[in-house]
Amino acid sequence: MSTAKSQKEKKVTTHVLQEMKSRGEKISMLTAYDFSMARIVDAAGIDVILVGDSASNVMAGHETTLPITLDQMIYHASSVVRAINRCLVVVDLPFGTYQGNSKEALTSAIRIMKESGGHAVKMEGGEEIIESIERILSAGIPVMGHLGLTPQSIYKFGTYVVRAKEEAEAKKLIEDALALEEAGCFALVLEKIPFRLAKMVAEKLSIPVIGIGAGNGVDGQVLVIHDMLGINNEFSPRFLRRYNDLYTGIKTSVEQYIDDVKSKDFPNDKEQY
Ligand code: KIV
Repeated sequence: MSTAKSQKEKKVTTHVLQEMKSRGEKISMLTAYDFSMARIVDAAGIDVILVGDSASNVMAGHETTLPITLDQMIYHASSVVRAINRCLVVVDLPFGTYQGNSKEALTSAIRIMKESGGHAVKMEGGEEIIESIERILSAGIPVMGHLGLTPQSIYKFGTYVVRAKEEAEAKKLIEDALALEEAGCFALVLEKIPFRLAKMVAEKLSIPVIGIGAGNGVDGQVLVIHDMLGINNEFSPRFLRRYNDLYTGIKTSVEQYIDDVKSKDFPNDKEQY
């Protein structure tokens, strides 16, 4: 087997991500929420699938990530886990399942790991959730942190604008990032913050830092798959690169199918028994 092939087939673990950071190899991460999409994303060679609570927006049509439940996250995550062979699967702990107290946080994380088969959990926040993170880690569950724009706190922020532009917030973010590393998180997501700050954090930390709207000075990138494939055509932030226009592609195909049914063109002789 060639080295390139064996690298592509080697299962991604938190340890592999650490090695990638050490040798300067960028980490690719995308969201997925269902079996069919996860199968394609894993076959393409992605390093990490995030079963994000953005499922609340793109799968269920809610305005925020707050309504999605633990049971719904487990449903999405178990569908993803059944599809993959190689990538690491990280599952968001949804709003309200870990902020209350560390015992509840541990119970939620254990349910995700046991019932979905995911490999790690992600949690939004810094210092204020360290106790919960430590308790989850003590049960042997890997934790990915998430700082910057943390959508579960949208009603506190009030808007989805770039975070940590002011010195005080940037300083707090750096302190939180160091605290998360110290606590034992295996990686950190930084969302929508100035690229210089993100680069500085990635250089300060020894764990991998994965950015979304955080520039190219970090150790990897994550996007929501519905946004990067252009399925969701109503979201166009500056940081998003669209790799396809599936909204148009799918709509055109459905319109063609409707025409073919109405005109009695489908099915033809070869498409029937
Ligand atoms: O839920 C999600 O999709 C996320 C990414 C935006 C990082 O947390």
